[in-house]
Amino acid sequence: MTNVKLEESVWKSAYNCWLQYSDIKDHSRVQEYKKVCSNLVILDQSAIIDSAKEELEKGLFSMLGETPTISYEPQKKASIVLATYDQRTIKEYGVDYEDCNILNDDGYMIQSFDYQGDKAVLLLGKTDKGILYAAFHLLRLIQMSKDINNLTIFENPKNQIRMINHWDNMLGDIERGYSGNSIFYDQNEFTHDVDRIKDYARYLSSVGINSLSINNVNVHQVESKLITKELLPHVAEIADIFRSYGINTYLSVNYASPIEIGDLNTADPLDSEVQAWWSEKVAEIYEYIPDFGGFIVKADSEHRPGPFTYGRNHADGANLLGRALEPFGGIVFWRCFVYDCLQDWRDRKTDRAKAAYDHFKQLDGEFLDNVILQIKNGPMDFQVREPVSPLFGSLKQTNQVLEFQVAQEYTGQQKDLCFLVPQWKEVLDFDTYSEGKGSTVKSIVNGSKYPFQYSGITAVSNIGNDLNWTGNTLAQANFYGYGRLIWDTELSAEEISDEWVRLTFGHDEHVVEEVNQMLLNSWQIYENYTSPLGVGWMINPGHHYGPNIEGYEYSKWGTYHFSDCLGTGVNRTVKNGTGYSGQYYPENAEIYESLETCPDELLLFFHHVPYTHRLKSGETVIQHIYNTHFLGVEQVENMKARWEQLKDKIDTYRYENVLDRFTMQLENAIEWRDRINTYFYRHSGIPDEKKRTIY
Ligand code: GCU
Repeated sequence: MTNVKLEESVWKSAYNCWLQYSDIKDHSRVQEYKKVCSNLVILDQSAIIDSAKEELEKGLFSMLGETPTISYEPQKKASIVLATYDQRTIKEYGVDYEDCNILNDDGYMIQSFDYQGDKAVLLLGKTDKGILYAAFHLLRLIQMSKDINNLTIFENPKNQIRMINHWDNMLGDIERGYSGNSIFYDQNEFTHDVDRIKDYARYLSSVGINSLSINNVNVHQVESKLITKELLPHVAEIADIFRSYGINTYLSVNYASPIEIGDLNTADPLDSEVQAWWSEKVAEIYEYIPDFGGFIVKADSEHRPGPFTYGRNHADGANLLGRALEPFGGIVFWRCFVYDCLQDWRDRKTDRAKAAYDHFKQLDGEFLDNVILQIKNGPMDFQVREPVSPLFGSLKQTNQVLEFQVAQEYTGQQKDLCFLVPQWKEVLDFDTYSEGKGSTVKSIVNGSKYPFQYSGITAVSNIGNDLNWTGNTLAQANFYGYGRLIWDTELSAEEISDEWVRLTFGHDEHVVEEVNQMLLNSWQIYENYTSPLGVGWMINPGHHYGPNIEGYEYSKWGTYHFSDCLGTGVNRTVKNGTGYSGQYYPENAEIYESLETCPDELLLFFHHVPYTHRLKSGETVIQHIYNTHFLGVEQVENMKARWEQLKDKIDTYRYENVLDRFTMQLENAIEWRDRINTYFYRHSGIPDEKKRTIY
């Protein structure tokens, strides 16, 4: 798509995502904004403040048709004032010390005030990062057509670490990428499209992302060399770009690097030569990138090397790297996605879902202060529905981040619409009961429940070099929504969706209403036509798109959901199943353990039941499967038809792009419906009560 020569106006709307900065047609509104926005007064200087200045100039020119004048001293006229919170600003603008004391390092205040008879807006950051975030906030308000004359806004991000992980390979492909190739690499070289990387930094920073890892967690041979003198200068160039947007750069590393790129024959974490090797290596990295963030590590999982090879545990492995990074202020994200993909589960006790907890719970408190455990939201792998990982709340003395997946690997691959913010909100709001009622996941990962030194949220990126960044234009909403939600976990899915739609498509109420509804219902719709009642998988192995009911990749040991002529689902009870439900605190364990209380949507994750089992909704399991699958297809048909009604209101490129995706989604939904319904009809022998055709 990127190679096609398109009219500038066509590509602009797709490429510019939510930073459209469309010219404001309402003349009086423009005049109103101009009263404040014609001058920028910049009272501090740094590369990050330059980015804020550049963004304001760009955005204001584009929306108001006039570039603001710039001055570096206080001016007695209407202006946007950019300043960090220091003595001078306190004096000049009468800012209240007490008010600003509540700002954290990334926090900011936006305050309208009358400055010697004129209107002005102060963008005040505790640090320069806050100023940049405040600038994006002000531009968002103008794009949203809001009044900016009476603002008093205090913003502190709820999470300290707000990160994105790229799964980009140096060849240029992206593992689980659905929107073209990498913006960083091509044919094992770094790309030269610096402008694109800078634009990416703008999008990230506009939603508050402050940390980025730029290569796949599966570190292959070529990528192992990213931490060598040969490639570090290129990484440093990328880090320079991100730095000026307040973003720290990280790399995924190969645990066996001392063997792969060094000349040792072991990677044993307790070996002194291995320890010395990592210390020297880290020192070398910091020569190139003085504020290098640190490492992401996937070890002992899906054929990646790790400390198990040497009979060591994951604290030994992670601390090895933590120790090397510590003198430079670097940190290690050590992933808890550790399981034996070749395990034999025929005993019905062995259970992949139990693995992360089994490996890491016992190590709580044994990790160094600069090691952070990275925990996927669920115990399996980013399914459309799975319970929350029981590790949240179980690790009380270990820094941790929650890992989401913005890329829609199992949720439609950016062909099918699946707005994930509602799913993420359920995870964040989940009560673990680790300290009694109110021990929500969000209170754990934001560091308020336990005194972690580091905590926050990370996620797998969904962008690539497609013109519109995300393949499906509507998938931009997941990127935007992820950033906004982890900045402020109290925002509702509706608020986030509405912001994104207006920023992206403008304010036509019909478009806003329709697209909001599509986004907000899309997760439920996707779930309706795919795997039922939390059972997961049932997707094509390998590429993970489309139905394959018995197709779990590691299905050498049989069908993992144990469906037969009598029933379906995985018995994960303590009583007579795998025992997984016992990994939760009693309040949740009891709910999941019992057939009576287990929520319908997770029934088949926790229980094996006959097809005639009645759900709380009153339907039998088999009839629920039929009903939701017929309904899911109708819902997709309906979304597509409603999108078609918007034809005259959306530019051709984005209209056609989304229409194409709905067409693919409909085909996919039909295939899912037919395969799932047929499979369960043949297994159960129970016909559809409504006598619809099942092939
Ligand atoms: C999933 C995904 C892999 C990825 C892995 C991970 O299994 O399919 O591509 O490498 O997650 O998170 O490490």
